Amino acid sequence: MIVFASESIDFTDKAAGYRELEKQLHALLHGERDFIANCANTAALLWHSLPDLNWAGFYRLVDGELVLGPFQGKPACVRIQVGKGVCGTAAITGKTVLVPDVHEFPGHIACDAASRSEIVVPLVKGGDLLGVLDLDSPKLNRFDTADKAGLEKIVAVLLAAL
Ligand code: SME
Repeated sequence: MIVFASESIDFTDKAAGYRELEKQLHALLHGERDFIANCANTAALLWHSLPDLNWAGFYRLVDGELVLGPFQGKPACVRIQVGKGVCGTAAITGKTVLVPDVHEFPGHIACDAASRSEIVVPLVKGGDLLGVLDLDSPKLNRFDTADKAGLEKIVAVLLAAL
């Protein structure tokens, strides 16, 4: 059985690219409710589909702290306090944080010196924070409002599978 046929998605039109990605994720998670397994497959799908990433993955909220979850890319910081860094800011505000230049973000936590821009989407289900999705890029200004809208839909597909 082939779970994932890696046909590349065209992101020239980002909205269209994310719609295709959403469809693929929906199919990939179908029938599975395990949070870690679904986060792992989501991270792998994003990593193999989106151009110009150097990290894609999750931090889970465990005992009031963000703890490294499934990801693709280089090894990363394991624990992040809520309120700290880009991840902790998304966690405390419950809102997506878009960082065009990580050097301009006060308190940015540099797990990989190659990262130049970042986007973090909180995972909120029924009012509860479960964790965050974090994407890093070696390119300045890699993520825009189209990525924000697309990734928030991707997170919605992941949360709907729980
Ligand atoms: N840069 C993040 C830390 C996580 S790594 O990018 C994987 C932050 O400032 O929260």
